[in-house]
Amino acid sequence: MRSVLFRETGSPPSVSSVISSPDPIPGPGEVRLRMRFAPINPADLNFIEGSYGRKPDLPATPGMEGVGIVDALGPDVSNINPGDVAIPLGPGGTWAETIVRPAADLLVLPPDIDLQQAAMLRVNPATAWGLLHSRGQPAKGSWIVQNAASSAAAHCVISLARHLGLHSLNLVRRPESADACLAAGADFVLTDDASAPATAAAIPGFSPPSLAINAVGGDSALRLLNLLAPGGTMATYGAMSRQPLKVPNGLLIFKDLHLNGFWLTRWLAQLPPTEVRSLYTNLANLVLNGTIHQPVAATYPLENLHDALVHASTSARGGKILLDLQSPG
Ligand SMILES: NC(=O)c1ccc[n+]([C@@H]2O[C@H](COP(=O)([O-])OP(=O)(O)OC[C@H]3O[C@@H](n4cnc5c(N)ncnc54)[C@H](OP(=O)(O)O)[C@@H]3O)[C@@H](O)[C@H]2O)c1
Repeated sequence: MRSVLFRETGSPPSVSSVISSPDPIPGPGEVRLRMRFAPINPADLNFIEGSYGRKPDLPATPGMEGVGIVDALGPDVSNINPGDVAIPLGPGGTWAETIVRPAADLLVLPPDIDLQQAAMLRVNPATAWGLLHSRGQPAKGSWIVQNAASSAAAHCVISLARHLGLHSLNLVRRPESADACLAAGADFVLTDDASAPATAAAIPGFSPPSLAINAVGGDSALRLLNLLAPGGTMATYGAMSRQPLKVPNGLLIFKDLHLNGFWLTRWLAQLPPTEVRSLYTNLANLVLNGTIHQPVAATYPLENLHDALVHASTSARGGKILLDLQSPG
């Protein structure tokens, strides 16, 4: 079987390569998955660069998530059968044609789920859910605001916000990405520039949000802070501009704004395992009924790994880059 390996951290297309090794054999309580698709997320690129919150144990196989088909069971495995569609609930090492995981770490999905969407279930839908729930869900009918709204994670926020009866105001840096946000269920989309706060204030029915969701930093995050209601919270979960937050003292003193961070890994770790499984079962149903959909820009076979990593590192992609892990090598 082939898998992706990097022996040192650095630029992902430069340090990553495809290697061949024997198929792993599942031991007691373990299951082998023949992987179908795995996305290249910003976190995967950061992991290979060595700038992610969890450092690689080198040499390492990247891949925070993915979907596969069960093809072999070790001894003492019940409730999982060959042919089942399943995702690993733990992170790490999904960019491989076959992986072995403890049966307890897998979630079996409905057989008719779209495999590309299933490959992206673990990270962004759960992140969006956590952002909307981890500090108390905003009241039904209220507004939330977010930046980087063209991202896959933001599309999950948009559709879940609508599903939960919230209104979303969305800031995009490229006006041409507004239509996709509206199609996902956004109430309003604005270009992320200095005019956004004044334009937002004039939206009929708009009321300042108690929750702002920041994946950019810098000036964009400052615009979110200016849009928040007094006492509101900005949750930061990404730093796409790589610019630090700018927080005028007065916004803390006179508006009593709160700044939080959100990391899916940390949030999931403090939930009871049964709650994690029921969260993902719920999210899988929302994928199955089309409530949650993440756009896909392109799929690449493993032999075109270099091109896939370059494509995933470019801006204005309009969707995720997926590795197709069963295309003939
Ligand atoms: N904390 C967590 O647990 C967690 C979990 C999931 C995701 N995340 C983070 O969420 C963010 C989005 O992830 P994703 O998977 O949804 O990514 P994605 O689909 O690849 O989208 C990337 C987004 O970043 C925007 N962007 C790229 N460079 C930018 C820049 N220099 N300034 C402003 N915006 C920029 C893109 O805008 P264009 O479309 O205009 O190029 C796009 O909206 C990432 O930072 C990721 O690490 C964090």
